Amino acid sequence: MSRIKKVRGFQDIYGENAKKYRFVVDTARKIFERYNFEEIILPYVEDVSLFIRSVGEETDIVQKEMYIFEDRGGRRVALRPEGTASAVRAYIEEKLYAKGGYHKLFYEGAMFRYERPQAGRYRQFHQIGAEIFGTDSPLADAELIKMVKEILDRLCIEVRLEINTLGDFESRKRYMEVLKEFLKKREDALCEDCRKRIERNPLRVLDCKIESCREATKDAPVLMDFISEESLQRFEKLKEYLNALKIEYEINPRLVRGLDYYTDTVFEFITDKIGAQGTVAAGGRYDTLVNQLGGPETPALGFAAGIERLMLLVDKLPEKKSLIAVIPVVTEFNIEGLKTAQKIREKEIKTELILKEGSLKSKMKLANKIGARYVVFVSEKPELKDMETGEQEIFQNIDDLIDALAGKI
Ligand code: HAM
Repeated sequence: MSRIKKVRGFQDIYGENAKKYRFVVDTARKIFERYNFEEIILPYVEDVSLFIRSVGEETDIVQKEMYIFEDRGGRRVALRPEGTASAVRAYIEEKLYAKGGYHKLFYEGAMFRYERPQAGRYRQFHQIGAEIFGTDSPLADAELIKMVKEILDRLCIEVRLEINTLGDFESRKRYMEVLKEFLKKREDALCEDCRKRIERNPLRVLDCKIESCREATKDAPVLMDFISEESLQRFEKLKEYLNALKIEYEINPRLVRGLDYYTDTVFEFITDKIGAQGTVAAGGRYDTLVNQLGGPETPALGFAAGIERLMLLVDKLPEKKSLIAVIPVVTEFNIEGLKTAQKIREKEIKTELILKEGSLKSKMKLANKIGARYVVFVSEKPELKDMETGEQEIFQNIDDLIDALAGKI
């Protein structure tokens, strides 16, 4: 019978990679908590229109990448392609705004996009992300960027930071009209995708990685020239704060992001080490989205990072905790072995009771194979063996042995 394989673009994460996954998530969680963010666990399935109305009708995500299906009740639903839209929906639906002040939420989990799979790009991938609702202070932008940088630093991942401002909605609309006119005149020099984007999503043309498109748009009008005084001042403040925090950045006037909801600040953390899919974390402000989706006017901002991309860049996991193997020397000591393993675990020490009957030699072989740092032999006179030095020590009773062991670890 033919074997069933995993679906293209989906992965099993196991062994060393599962450890890296946990390491990335645990590290991020610690930093989120330090910045006083609270966790929100969001559904994987949402009404399709949530993403159409937030991520944007004309974006690649909505046009061609969403997993959409009809459930048994005839609802048109989508597997979430990102977390921001759901966070905004929850913020409105759960009336989080009613508590006053501002809200800092973080999330973690799988996202789904029907993209062409390649290294660092999958159809099911995982993000850690955070959103701040209810503050328009550029201090929030600076703190958010600092927090992401801190997570990356903790993971020893080297990146460069690119920032840009998209201005407010009105300025951007004015700019897009001028840009469309410019692009129409150069239509012949653009790739097929970009030609389609002229009407639908002209900003994305500036983001195209194809050389001929880059060349054709070299002298395109610059968004910065259309932006309101207020937005420019906000951008100046952000730069000032980033300087004060000693965060290096480059201003990339072409950075526009692939989702429609952004206003003012946008940013990306990029690495050159993993090929074409080099953006490891990205985000920005979306001051009009909450209102657009039916909530009260609420400025907001956030970011998300791709866990798989971070995993590709983590080369060292923190030192492993020492493992203790407990071996009942003969079957008569099995019950004593069971109890001993429990007692050691109570001391928060990682312990494996060797679950194998047979000769002492075969049990030792197994202890070696699983990488035990110490072996506890359970018999009348319990013994402790240091597997690194080979030293062995006999104890009067098991409690003395456990005390000695706890002192060593
Ligand atoms: P995004 O740029 O679409 O933004 O995705 C954020 C990150 O998710 C990317 O930088 C990348 O690391 C990872 N990522 C995206 N697609 C894939 C994929 N197919 N395979 C592997 N990793 C991927 C957002 O999702 C926004 N919600 C970010 C945000 C939050 N903006 C404001 N708040």
